[in-house]
Amino acid sequence: MFWIALLLAQAAVPSQTERGEALFFDAQKGCGTCHALKGKGTAVGPDLSVMGRLAPAAIAMAARSTVTQYVGVARMKSGGSFPAITGKKDAASVVLFDLSKMPPEKKEVAPGDFTMGANDKWKHPPAEAKISNEQLADIVAYVKFAATGSKKSVNPDDVR
Ligand code: HEC
Repeated sequence: MFWIALLLAQAAVPSQTERGEALFFDAQKGCGTCHALKGKGTAVGPDLSVMGRLAPAAIAMAARSTVTQYVGVARMKSGGSFPAITGKKDAASVVLFDLSKMPPEKKEVAPGDFTMGANDKWKHPPAEAKISNEQLADIVAYVKFAATGSKKSVNPDDVR
């Protein structure tokens, strides 16, 4: 009886990747609002299944980075500007995700409707919000699991 109870108790404790998955798709932390993994979430930002192959420290550093590589400021010919990342594009249209909105707002415009300038406004949410090393370690463990299938645990000291 005792052993059965112990086994049940262990089964109820979520693993690190399970905790990370919950945080990743949590409405507050919101990684899943902008990143898709394992068929869940929304693909606004880069596909993390590529970066998920890197070492935990590299993933954490990219998540906390205050420098952006893809995000710019879209200036509309019709007036107004907003921080944006481009999505699908062809000869006739470009998808822009307006990052001033949460969740980001998808806009489909013509290639000649705007110009893209350097990003001086937008900060990646995990760079701005206080996120503990423990929580980031869980999230990174989930990102690695989603990318590689590895359930290896991630030490909070490795994502400082
Ligand atoms: C509001 C949308 C948004 C949210 C929320 C968000 N991200 Fe991002 N993320 C982006 C965008 C956009 C980029 C690309 C930034 C750039 O370099 O221009 C990015 C980039 C990244 C990168 C670097 C990817 C690469 O290939 O360079 C990582 C890692 C990452 N995000 C992880 C996270 C994690 C973990 C969370 C949650 C704690 C999160 N993001 C929440 C939009 C978001």
